[in-house]
Amino acid sequence: MIRINENYTKLKASYLFSDIAKRVSAYVAANPAKPVIRLGIGDVTEPLPPVCVEALHAATDEMAKRGTFKGYGPEQGYAFLREAVAQHDYAARGCKIEADEIFISDGSKCDCGNIQEIFAQDIRLAIPDPVYPVYVDTNVMAGRTGASIDGRYQGITYLESTPANGYVPSVPNVATDLIYLCFPNNPTGAVATKAQLEAWVAYAKKNKAVILFDSAYEAYIRNPAIPHSIYEIEGARDVAIEFRSFSKTAGFTGTRCAYTVIPKSLMAYDAAGNAHPLHALWNRRHTTKFNGVAYPIQKAAAAIFTDAGKQQTSDLINFYLANAKLIRDAMTKLGFSCIGGDNAPYIWVNTGRDSWAFFDTLLEKAQVVCTPGAGFGKCGEGHVRISAFNSRENVETALTRIAAALK
Ligand code: MLT
Repeated sequence: MIRINENYTKLKASYLFSDIAKRVSAYVAANPAKPVIRLGIGDVTEPLPPVCVEALHAATDEMAKRGTFKGYGPEQGYAFLREAVAQHDYAARGCKIEADEIFISDGSKCDCGNIQEIFAQDIRLAIPDPVYPVYVDTNVMAGRTGASIDGRYQGITYLESTPANGYVPSVPNVATDLIYLCFPNNPTGAVATKAQLEAWVAYAKKNKAVILFDSAYEAYIRNPAIPHSIYEIEGARDVAIEFRSFSKTAGFTGTRCAYTVIPKSLMAYDAAGNAHPLHALWNRRHTTKFNGVAYPIQKAAAAIFTDAGKQQTSDLINFYLANAKLIRDAMTKLGFSCIGGDNAPYIWVNTGRDSWAFFDTLLEKAQVVCTPGAGFGKCGEGHVRISAFNSRENVETALTRIAAALK
C-alpha cells in the first residue's frame, strides 16, 4: 500500500498566498463591478529593464542559429553570470566571494526551500516569527518538527520580531544549529545593522551553526550604513549561506533567476564530528536535481551589471520605493505605527486588530488586497503587510480608498 509523507498533514491546508488568492478570486467573482487593487503578494508590476529585454532578444537569436545554439548549460550557471555577480555584488562591497561559490538557480524560493535537504534530520532550528512561510513549511515537510500547537510547531526556536525589539530578533539564549535570517525583512521590511549581524555571526561561530541569510531585497537598501550581504561581516564566510534573487531587483518574478552563495570554507559535521564542506554537498544536490537556468534568462540577468543596467534597475527600485513612501506616510497619517518601506518594498502596519479581519475590511470596503500578518506567524497577528509593487496610479487610488474605508 502506497503511503503519504505524513509530515504534510501537519501543514495548514494551503500555502498562505494561495489561500489569499482564493479569497480574492471569490470576492471578485461575487463583485465583478468592483475592481480590486492587489498590494498583497510581492509580485512586481513594471516591465523588465530595457537592457534585459535587449539581452533576451539577442540570446534568443543565438539559440536560433546552429553556430551559437546552446543545449544544457552548466548546472551551476554560466561563468559570465557567476563572474559578474562575484565582481559587482561582492567584490565591489569588499566581500571575498569567488565566482565558483555562486550557484545560479531559478529562484530563491526554491533554494531557501531545498537547502534544508543537505542538513541532518535532528538539527535544532531557529526561525523568525513573523516569517516568509517557506522556511517553516519546508522543514515541516521534511519531518524536522512536531505538530503545530497554538500556531507554533514543536521543535522550532522562534525568533520573535515585535514592536519591543524593533522587529529585529536578538540571538536566542539556547543553542541552535540552523538559523534563518532575512534582511531587509519579508514581511516586516525591517533592516539589521552591522552590529546586529555581527552578534548573529558570533552566535553561529560559538554554536558551530549555519546561518541561512536571505537577502532577496538587498537592492532596496538606501541607508548606506546597512549591510547588503552577510559577508560584509567578518567571519561570515565560515558560518553563512546567502540567497539572492533578480526577482525584486530587476523584475524577474516571471522570468526566474536567482543565486545562492556557499563559501568553500563553510563546514558542517557528520555524527562522528568530521567536517564536510557544504559547497560540495550543495553542488552534488544541485547537479543531481537541477539542469540550469535558460541561457537567454542568464544573459538578461547579466545585463543588469552593465552601467545602463545598474541605472535602469536603480530607477526601477526607486519607483517602488516612492510607492512605499506614499503607503507608509498614508498609513501613518491614519494613525497606524508602521515600519519598512524605506529600505524595503514592504510596509508592516501595526493595526492593533485581528489581521484577517483587517484584511477583510480592506478587501470588502476598499477593494484593496494586503497580506494578513497572522499568515506569517503568531507574532504577525495585529499587523498587515502592504506591498509597494504596483503602478503609481493604483497605489494612489488604493490609499484614497483605504482612507475612506477606515474613516
Ligand atoms: C511575498 O509576497 O512574500 C513574495 O512574493 C514571496 C516570494 O518572493 O516568493
